[in-house]
Amino acid sequence: MRTDDGQRAPTAPGGSRSELFVACLPGLEPLLVDELSGLGLAGAPAEGGVELAGSLRDAARICLCSGLGTHVLVRLAEFHCVHLRELRRLAERVEWGRWLTPGEPFAVRASCRKSRLYHSGAVAERIGAAVGAALGVAAEDAIAAADDGAPAVVARLLHDRCTVSLDVSGAPLHRRGWRLAAAKAPLREDLAWALVSASGWRPGEPFVDPFCGSGTLPITAALRAAGLPPGLGRSFAFERLACAAAAGCDALRAEVGTAGPGEAARIGAADRDAGAIAAARANAARAGVADRIEWCEGSWRDAPGLADPAPAGALVSNPPFGARVGEAARLVHLWQAVGARCRALPPGWRIALLAADRRLALRTGLPLRTAFATQHGGLPVRALVARVAAPGGPGAG
Ligand SMILES: C[S@@+](CC[C@H](N)C(=O)[O-])C[C@H]1O[C@@H](n2cnc3c(N)ncnc32)[C@H](O)[C@@H]1O
Repeated sequence: MRTDDGQRAPTAPGGSRSELFVACLPGLEPLLVDELSGLGLAGAPAEGGVELAGSLRDAARICLCSGLGTHVLVRLAEFHCVHLRELRRLAERVEWGRWLTPGEPFAVRASCRKSRLYHSGAVAERIGAAVGAALGVAAEDAIAAADDGAPAVVARLLHDRCTVSLDVSGAPLHRRGWRLAAAKAPLREDLAWALVSASGWRPGEPFVDPFCGSGTLPITAALRAAGLPPGLGRSFAFERLACAAAAGCDALRAEVGTAGPGEAARIGAADRDAGAIAAARANAARAGVADRIEWCEGSWRDAPGLADPAPAGALVSNPPFGARVGEAARLVHLWQAVGARCRALPPGWRIALLAADRRLALRTGLPLRTAFATQHGGLPVRALVARVAAPGGPGAG
C-alpha cells in the first residue's frame, strides 16, 4: 500500500499481513523455501533469505520453528530518501508506539549501499531519534540499554530507497541456547539443520554421526525425531513487542511445543576426543534429548548404528577436512576409509558429508552430488550427498 506522496504506508501490527524477510546463510535459500512451505507459508527466494507475506504471528512461528533461518524481519516502511532530515521525517510516520513499548530497550542497525546517504552511523542516529520522538523517550538511553534479545530497527538504503524493518528474532536464530559447550570446529546449528535436511533423513530412521564433535548433528536429529521446534529453548524479541499479545503470540510457544511422543529413532554418535563427547553430552542434556542419543568415545568405526547398521538409515557428518582441523594430506586415508565403510552399508542408506575440500570428498568413491554450497567459519563448504548403491550398481564397488 502506498500513501498519497508515493511512499509505502507503515504496516499495521497485530493480525494484518506484512512483508516478511527470513534471512539465512547464503546457499540455503531453496531449503528455507521448503521449510517455510512445511509451515504453510509460501515464500520466494531472494539473496540471503526468503520473502513472504505474513502476520506478526507468522513471523513469531518462524522464529520458534525454523531450523534454517537466522533472522526474521517485518517490513514497516519503504521510501525514497536522499537527505537525513527527510529520513527522520519519514521514519517518524511509522506507528512506533504500536510496535515498541516506551521505556523498553531497542537496537538500531543501518546499512547504506549505492545511495546518496552513505553514512550508516548518521542514518542509524536519525532513525533512532525518529523512534525515540514517536515513543516520547530518549533514544540514546533505550539504545544503550539494548541487549542481544531486544527488538532491532533495521534501516537499509539501496539506490536511495530506504526500507525500515523490525528484527523480531533478537539474537540470531541459530543460537538456540543448548550449544554452550563446544569442541574443535563446531558446526553452526543452522548449517547442521541444513545438512540433516539435505541428507533426506526422516525422523524415525536410524541416524549416525561418527565424527560428532560437540554433537550438533545428532542433537539436531534428536530434536527433529522428538518433534521439538528448534527455538523452544530460548526467548525472542517478538515476545517484547507492544503488540505481541494482540497478535496472538502469547499462546504460540505452548501451541508449537506440544510435541507428541515423537519418533523412536536410533541416533548414534562417536568422537575419539573425550572432551568432545563430554561437551556433546552436556549439550544434549541442555537440549532435552540426552536419552535419545547413544554416544561412543572412540574410533568413528565404532559409532553406534554404524558398527551394526540397520537395513536403512543415514550417515550425516562433518568429518575433519584439513583446513580447520589438521592437514588435508593426512586425512586422505581417513576419507577413503569412510567411503569404503559407507559403500559397504546396506543399499539405500543416505550419506551427507560437509566438506571444504571436494578432492578429499571424492576419495570416498561415493557418487556424491552437491546439495548446497555455503560458507562456514569463513570457508566455502559444500554439502555432498549420496545414496548407497546396490552391489554392482552405480557408485558401488
Ligand atoms: C569437524 S569436527 C566435527 C564438529 C561437529 N560437527 C560439531 O558440530 O561440533 C571433527 C571431529 O572428528 C573427530 N575425529 C577426528 N578423527 C577421528 C577418528 N579417527 N575417530 C573419531 N573421531 C575423530 C575430532 O575429534 C573432531 O571432534
